[in-house]
Amino acid sequence: SLSALLIVQLLLDHYSSPRNVGSMNKQDTDVGTGLVGAPACGDVMKLQIKVDPKDNTISDVKFKTFGCGSAIASSSYLTELVRGMTLEDAGKIRNTEIARELCLPPVKLHCSMLAEDAIKSAISNYYTKNPKTTATDLSGT
Ligand code: FES
Ligand code: FES
Repeated sequence: SLSALLIVQLLLDHYSSPRNVGSMNKQDTDVGTGLVGAPACGDVMKLQIKVDPKDNTISDVKFKTFGCGSAIASSSYLTELVRGMTLEDAGKIRNTEIARELCLPPVKLHCSMLAEDAIKSAISNYYTKNPKTTATDLSGT
């Protein structure tokens, strides 16, 4: 069908021209770094977010993935998804959403899991470096 074709094009597009590849200085206090591995295959993904402390939103995002095409496409898609999101919303992204958008086959589900793990790990690294701006503080409790 046409929509299946469009989904395959989205996957191929993120695979052949990944968005937001690169890295940031992980020493910067406004940068959170996530480095995760997939036990199933040994692939590794590094994802970094720059956070605007005024409203706790992600102002920039970069990744490097040493892995398969599905992992690269998943991380590329994720970077476009989380730009401009609050840390709270970005932390709620599930790998199943990514897998559904990119139409990954079941055997490639763990590749999208790498992207979910990476954004969670980047967020938690940011909170570790900026303990004053945790979600609890923002909600005023
Ligand atoms: Fe790692 Fe796919 S198994 S590249
Ligand atoms: Fe390992 Fe895709 S096969 S991340």
